[in-house]
Amino acid sequence: MEKILILNGSPRAPRSNSKRYGALFDRAWGGESETMDLLRADPGAVAERLETVSRVLLVFPLYADAVPVPVLRTFQALEERPPKNRPTLSVLVNCGFLEPEQCDVAVDMAALFCKQMGWPMGSVLEIGSGEAILDSPFRFLAAWKIKALARAVAADRPRRLKAAMPVSKAFFLKASTRYWLAYGARHGVTGEEMATMEIEGQRPS
Ligand SMILES: Cc1cc2nc3c(=O)[nH]c(=O)nc-3n(C[C@H](O)[C@H](O)[C@H](O)COP(=O)(O)O)c2cc1C
Repeated sequence: MEKILILNGSPRAPRSNSKRYGALFDRAWGGESETMDLLRADPGAVAERLETVSRVLLVFPLYADAVPVPVLRTFQALEERPPKNRPTLSVLVNCGFLEPEQCDVAVDMAALFCKQMGWPMGSVLEIGSGEAILDSPFRFLAAWKIKALARAVAADRPRRLKAAMPVSKAFFLKASTRYWLAYGARHGVTGEEMATMEIEGQRPS
């Protein structure tokens, strides 16, 4: 199978959920692959690698209903100095909220990038409850859809896939609130403090 370039667009790349999703994809892909972290990679090095592949998988988290900064910076750099090659770009995006549809705008941003660059848009997998699903009993649902994504990418048969934990919104909200309150408590931060705009004693200007 042809080599695929996996680009991790998470701002916390080395410890990210995107890294875990990328690794699951890599296992399902089975062929040759190379992974680059957009957080640290020089855009010139990314552009160089893009000349050598016909397929790219962009894995990233949803940040503020959009693509995160490492992805935005890479898009801008590639638009300024477009590679000669035009690989097919597939997308695996995960978000914290339950609904995979939260990722639609970010996927549209990737599709617009493809349109402007003249790259074919490939397959898409949107994962809701992306912070939680891999450590839940529903991990198999994410892994199953990632396998379907790998098959669609390999066959150059674009598909639009979604995955999420099959629980009600009320249950998810209750469980995630409990999780984040306990997480904050472990780091000496209360629920009230989390609800302010303050970050480590400073307010954003
Ligand atoms: C600054 C910030 C903004 C976020 N914005 C959203 C959002 O708009 N919608 C959402 O569903 N999740 C949002 N999330 C949750 C992340 O998408 C989620 O935690 C994801 O699993 C992180 O993936 P990563 O570990 O690959 O970075 C946000 C997280 C952070 C830290």
